[in-house]
Amino acid sequence: MKYNKQLSDIISQVAQISGYLWEKGWAERNGGNISYNITEFAPELMSFEAIAPEVEIGFEVSHLKNAIFYVTGTGKRMRYVSQSPLDNGSIIRICDDCRHYETIAEYDIRPTSELPSHLAIHDYLQVRSSSYKAVMHTHPTDLIAMSHHTPFLKKDVLTHLLWSMIPETRAFCPKGLGIVPYKLPGSVELATATIEQLKNYDVVMWEKHGVLAVGENLIEAFDMIDTLSKSAQIYMDSRMMGFIPEGLSDLQMDELREAFNL
Ligand code: 13P
Ligand code: ZN
Repeated sequence: MKYNKQLSDIISQVAQISGYLWEKGWAERNGGNISYNITEFAPELMSFEAIAPEVEIGFEVSHLKNAIFYVTGTGKRMRYVSQSPLDNGSIIRICDDCRHYETIAEYDIRPTSELPSHLAIHDYLQVRSSSYKAVMHTHPTDLIAMSHHTPFLKKDVLTHLLWSMIPETRAFCPKGLGIVPYKLPGSVELATATIEQLKNYDVVMWEKHGVLAVGENLIEAFDMIDTLSKSAQIYMDSRMMGFIPEGLSDLQMDELREAFNL
């Protein structure tokens, strides 16, 4: 299949970012998944025939009628998504009833098991008239480890801790990290709880599982998780050296907020 330049660029972005996920060690086996709302970048896909029967979504995504997405396939490994996004993912279109999707490319690839979360989020982004097109879920070891400590799961405890490790995290992850209490992977409950957190955050922790980020593109989403992960590493390295890191002071944080207009 031949794609236009904008769509080719998005597919290249999927290849680049999925490679980073593997290199970071955040994507053991088939860990993580990606979706990208490509509706406005590929109008020619609107007329494509479905190549497989319609599949029920399980709920209504009323703001996604005929929307088109690239999604990584379930069971697909990020290290291979990186080599060939289209052999390890599919392009799906939401049907007229907003309750089913159909695959328009490629054959024999089922979308990620986290599709409920991805579609619910894209639907929510439409409601908000958001410019965000990319949703990414991954398994960063350091951040997940922190979610195994109950005191860190209270609202904004991790946000403030991670912000205070290095100025960049305060500046480039300005909304912090939302916390989604543990829910079964792939469940509608996980999707619903995630949406709740996305009302206030662009990155959320799925307790004892992983992290999910939304952004205008995959690079933005990746960079926020990477920045938070850097902070987590500084915290852990300090603890391993035998001390509790001091963190930036409230005064220094206030100064950052003003300087960066946060
Ligand atoms: P998929 O292979 O179905 O995308 O699942 C990976 C994952 O990380 C589930 O949370
Ligand atoms: Zn996962």
